[in-house]
Amino acid sequence: MPESKPQNCTITLDGQNYEFPVIVGTEGEKAIDISKLRDTTGYVTLDVGYKNTGATKSKITFLDGELGILRHRGYSIEDLAEKANFLEVAYLLLKGELPNKEEFESFDADIRHHTLVNEDLQNIFKTFPTGSHPMGQLIAMISSLSAYYPKALDPNRSQEAKNRTTLRLLAKMPTICAMIYKKSLGHPVVYPSNNLDYVSNFLTMTFKHVSDHEYQPDPVVVDAMNKLLILHADHEQNCSASTVRLVGSSQANLYATTAAGIAALWGPLHGGANQEVLEMLNAIKADGGNVQKWVDKAKDKNDSFRLMGFGHRVYKNFDPRAKIIKKACDDVLNKLGINDPVLEIAKKLEEAALTDPYFIERKLYPNVDFYSGIIYRSIGFPTEMFTALFALGRLPGWIAQWQEMIGEGQPIGRPRQIYTGQTPRSFVNRGDRS
Ligand code: SDX
Repeated sequence: MPESKPQNCTITLDGQNYEFPVIVGTEGEKAIDISKLRDTTGYVTLDVGYKNTGATKSKITFLDGELGILRHRGYSIEDLAEKANFLEVAYLLLKGELPNKEEFESFDADIRHHTLVNEDLQNIFKTFPTGSHPMGQLIAMISSLSAYYPKALDPNRSQEAKNRTTLRLLAKMPTICAMIYKKSLGHPVVYPSNNLDYVSNFLTMTFKHVSDHEYQPDPVVVDAMNKLLILHADHEQNCSASTVRLVGSSQANLYATTAAGIAALWGPLHGGANQEVLEMLNAIKADGGNVQKWVDKAKDKNDSFRLMGFGHRVYKNFDPRAKIIKKACDDVLNKLGINDPVLEIAKKLEEAALTDPYFIERKLYPNVDFYSGIIYRSIGFPTEMFTALFALGRLPGWIAQWQEMIGEGQPIGRPRQIYTGQTPRSFVNRGDRS
C-alpha cells in the first residue's frame, strides 16, 4: 500500500481550531503530524515513555502488536528465520533487499576480513575484574574501537567510511563477545578463522579450546544460533534502537552510538530480561517448581516481582519470535539429547499465566526473552552472556536504524517537557535560611 497523501485533523485549543496533517503509512498506521504544534499553538504534547508517540517514519521493520506480526523490509520473521541466514538478514536490514549470490559472497568476504581486533584490546580486558558482567565489558570494548579507527569517527565523512565502520562492527562484535567469554574462564582467546561462516566462526572462537586441533560446531547449534540472531536482529523503535537514534542524532560516531545501544539493552526490562528469565526459572526450580506461587507473586502489587519474559510494550498478542523460539527450543534440546527441567518449568509457567485472568486482561504473553535463554544454555553459554548474545543479534538493526536517521539528515533529538518545579523565588543567604 503506497503512503497516501496527508489528510488533516482539527484540534481545538482555547476555543480555536487548528489543522494538522494526518499521515498514513504503507501498512495503514495513522499518525497526527504535530511537527508544527508548538509554533502554531504554544502547546507541546506529553507522553511519558512514548507509548503513543512515533519518533520517526521508517522503512526497515513493521510490527503489529495486536496481530503478532513482525516483518523486515516486507519479509515475515517466520520466512526469514526459516529460509535465510543471519548475514543475509543483516544485509536486508542495511541495504533494503536480500542479497543475490554475488552480493552475499562479497558482503561475507568483507566481513571475514575484518574479524580481527587490535591486540591492545587484550590490555583493556585486563582492567576488568574477573567475573565482570559481559555487557559492561562489551560497552567498553565497542566504544574503544573509536580509538583504533579515528578516521571513521565523523558519521558524515563519506559513505565509504560509514560502510567500513559498519563492516568492522559486524565483524568484530562476535570476536569481542567470544573474547569476553574466554576471559571469564581464564582461557586464552581463540582467533577468528576467515574460512568459517559468521556463526561457525563465532561458535568456534567461543567454544574451541586453544589446545583443540579439531573443533567442528554442531550443525544443529549453528542453525539454532543463526535463527536466534535473526530473531533478535531488529524490532523498530524499541528502547535500545531509540537510544541509538537519539545518540546518533548528535553526530556521535557509530562506535559510541552502538555502545549506547548496548547500554540501553542491558536493562532487565529490555534485553537484560533473557538473563532474568533463566534466573527466575532456576529460582522456581530451586523452590520446588510451584509455578502458581510465582504467578501469584507476579500479580501481587505489593510484590516487586514480575514474570520476566512476559509482557511487551507493543505486542498484546503472542510475540511471533517467542513462538519460533519455543519450537526451536524443543528441536534443539531433542537433537542434542538434552532433557532440561527448566524448559518444563517454563512451559508450565506459560500455561499457568496464559489461563490467569490477570495476564489475560493485561494481554501479557511470552516475549522474545522467555525461551531464548534455554536454547543459549543448551548450547553452552553461561546466563550472564545471554544479553551480549542479544546485542550480537541486534547490531545490524541498530546500524540500519542509525543509517536511516543519518541518511535522512534528521535533526538532533531534543524532546520538550512540562516543568512542575518551584516557581521563581529570591535567593536567601545561607546564614539566613532556617
Ligand atoms: C524486550 O520494545 C521492544 O520491542 C523490546 C524487545 C525488542 O526486541 O527490542 O521486544 C525486547 O525488551 C522484550 C521485553 C523484555 N522485558 C521483560 O520481559 C520484563 C518483564 N516485562 C515487563 O516489565 C513489561 O511487560 C514491559 C517492560 C516489557 C512492558 O511494560 P509496559 O508496556 O510499560 O507495561 P506496564 O509496565 O505499564 O504493564 C501494564 C500492566 C501493569 O499492571 P497494572 O498497573 O495495569 O495493574 O501489566 C503489568 C504491570 O504491572 N505487567 C506485568 C508484567 N508486565 C506488565 N505484571 C507481571 N509480570 C510482568 N512481566
